[in-house]
Amino acid sequence: MNIAIDGPAGAGKSTIARIVSARLGYIYVDTGAMFRAVAYNCTQNGIDARDTERISSLASSADISIRYVGDVQRVFLNDADVTDHLRDEAVGNMASVVAQIPVVRSVLLDLQRKLARENDVVMDGRDIGTCVLPDAELKVYLTASSAVRAKRRYDELVAKGENPDITVIEKDIIERDERDMNREIAPLKQADDAVLVDSSYMTIDEVTDRIISLARDAGAKV
Ligand code: DC
Repeated sequence: MNIAIDGPAGAGKSTIARIVSARLGYIYVDTGAMFRAVAYNCTQNGIDARDTERISSLASSADISIRYVGDVQRVFLNDADVTDHLRDEAVGNMASVVAQIPVVRSVLLDLQRKLARENDVVMDGRDIGTCVLPDAELKVYLTASSAVRAKRRYDELVAKGENPDITVIEKDIIERDERDMNREIAPLKQADDAVLVDSSYMTIDEVTDRIISLARDAGAKV
């Protein structure tokens, strides 16, 4: 059973996917973390986000893999666990830039499809329903207004003791969405057969219950 959850930055995909996968006993595959690992690798090697040639060659030679500690996904880059370096806003923004590069997408596509072939998965990203898993039993397009998404990010950063500017967060989110929606390969869009869930005015419990109910309708045993 494969469940695809796509949507724009900050829509709550990873929070929701993590809870849904735990309730179903599936593994959670966070594909954004894979693109973030490529971006992180570039910054570690001093490669500029616009240097397509060097990024392509680095992406094809790097060994990016996913391992599970309990049900928590850890991302390994050349055998080092880089998971804790991937959540910064700067890494996310750079991930959106390197995600436009064909070689980067094709390397990660193989890894994503292999995980879905071998496991029951809840996989989140931008192109899972449209491109990575076109035959997924359930596809959800999870979104929320940019103002709500910016407020959630803002609250997260404040809770971590940071002092962010909400207008900058919303501007970055809108910019990232535009890049993800307008790139040539595998742009972010709702698959024709995906169910739209707008979480702007829903609680986490309401969203997870809705997806669990859709999963049940799609044949999941819950
Ligand atoms: O979901 P996230 O914020 O961790 O994703 C970071 C970036 O990675 C996102 O802005 C675009 C890219 N990405 C992608 O192109 N395709 C995916 N399936 C997942 C992420």
